[in-house]
Amino acid sequence: MITKNKIEEFQDKVLTYYQDHGRDLPWRHTTDPYAILVSEIMLQQTQVDRVISFYHRWLQQWPTVQSLAAARREDVLKAWMGLGYNNRAVRLHQCARVIVEQFAGDVLHAMAYYKEVPGIGPYTSHAVRIFAANEDLVTVDTNIRRIFIHEFGLPESLSDKELWAIAERCLPKGKSCDWHNALMDYGATLMTARRTGIRPKTRQSEFEGSDRQIRAGILRFILTNGKCPLDGLSSCCPDRERLLRILSAMIRDGIIVKRDSLFVLSE
Ligand code: ADE
Repeated sequence: MITKNKIEEFQDKVLTYYQDHGRDLPWRHTTDPYAILVSEIMLQQTQVDRVISFYHRWLQQWPTVQSLAAARREDVLKAWMGLGYNNRAVRLHQCARVIVEQFAGDVLHAMAYYKEVPGIGPYTSHAVRIFAANEDLVTVDTNIRRIFIHEFGLPESLSDKELWAIAERCLPKGKSCDWHNALMDYGATLMTARRTGIRPKTRQSEFEGSDRQIRAGILRFILTNGKCPLDGLSSCCPDRERLLRILSAMIRDGIIVKRDSLFVLSE
């Protein structure tokens, strides 16, 4: 039973921890919904330390959603190179274009209608509204999920719906921005997976020897050389069948297209 008392104790503990040990992260110095959206997409599968330099460079290159929407796909992918999971760059770019074309560039408004924005789900839309506008909403990422499970002794099989309902009960009204920052720090630095023994629902797959590594190699090759015949890509993957399968997936994801037997970046 999660009592009101227990929730209040939990809130105090997490907020006090944040006051004393909160991390100073660049996206905590802004309320610009676009900058926060960029940070959230970058942070999705990447550690904070890796993201920081990419975040600064990105905002120097494209300081507004309009500037990103007008960017060339090639430049967007080049800027993302080294951060991994390149689909995120494509998604962020597409998302910027939809926000400019269909929401007059209003990122916050677009987040309220996230189902119409490609690549945005409930986690990201709520995160942007929380961090940019301190809206009384909740969001649950892998760190926050781990905290709730550990704190209240919940089964790891709990559904997202049940977790989000518990998150809503725990939200201190009017403090959503601080509360979620606090939870993220508490989860990332104190209630770690190792310390709690609670595993994420989905684990990142090994990079070495993976399709992901081959995809990154193909993309790097095409970004460096421009148009590229199939034979030119065999250095990325000597197994022809596997190479073809991965190329098909990249075409499906809208990263590359095949034109006159040559692989080129998608527009
Ligand atoms: N992971 C996802 N969003 C984050 C944020 N805003 N701060 C720290 N870690 C995060």
